Amino acid sequence: MSVQAEQKRLTAPDIRARKGGEPIVSLTSYHAHTARLVDKYCDVILVGDSLGMVMHGFETTVPVTLDMMILQGHAVMRGSNHALVVVDMPFGSYEASKEQAFMNAARVLKETGCGAIKLEGGKRMAETIAFLTERGIPVMAHVGLTPQAINALGSFRAQGRDPADWGPFEDDARAVSDAGAFSVVLEAMAEPLAARITKKIPIPTIGIGASPVCDGQILVLEDMLGLSPRAPKFVKRFGELGPSIERAIAAYAGEVRARTFPGPDHVYAAKPKNT
Ligand code: KIV
Repeated sequence: MSVQAEQKRLTAPDIRARKGGEPIVSLTSYHAHTARLVDKYCDVILVGDSLGMVMHGFETTVPVTLDMMILQGHAVMRGSNHALVVVDMPFGSYEASKEQAFMNAARVLKETGCGAIKLEGGKRMAETIAFLTERGIPVMAHVGLTPQAINALGSFRAQGRDPADWGPFEDDARAVSDAGAFSVVLEAMAEPLAARITKKIPIPTIGIGASPVCDGQILVLEDMLGLSPRAPKFVKRFGELGPSIERAIAAYAGEVRARTFPGPDHVYAAKPKNT
């Protein structure tokens, strides 16, 4: 290659190198316009499969397909140019075999241009994570509460509240780190367990309902903006966009009904060509 384009985007190795350093700021985004805003302040944008619940109104993330992820991943890439974009692998697209995971993850990278994928699971996914990372696909892992396993778990409750249960969670985090994941999401996990894992493993932990000690934090954008009708306990609402959007829609509806919108500023006057 003769000319190298200036590398502006953060990469998976950049994020990996942030272990124990400046907190990694992450949010989800599924659209070009929100990605543009998130990109100004965040190091990582996750195109999460939470889009199934947020955009499509599904009860869980289980129905989400690879095509849905690719479409929104592409939109987020178009709307951003600084953050590392990570696209979630949806349920059923990577668990059957490491070869299935490679084929589908390669499709995500090729068709969206994103820099990494995320998949759920600890020890049981270690072999797959090693297979992908050895073949050039950076992997963000996800342990603790793994929402794609909702049908087996029975509910979205916090994990590891009893210290007697901590062993398997620590083993999961260690396994994904040893397998080559560049970071790991710790979701809905008892705070001291998340802090302990963060101290013990050499890759950055990104907490969501985990611990302030984690190397980074992530939230679902619509949850923290106050747009989601129901949000988990761990969400802090940094905005209340729901009521403000509703006020705007009500004002629009009122003006359309009263024929006060569109006004003179919102219409085109006639403009004859030869004047
Ligand atoms: O799908 C998603 O948005 C996620 C985050 C909650 C980490 O996996």
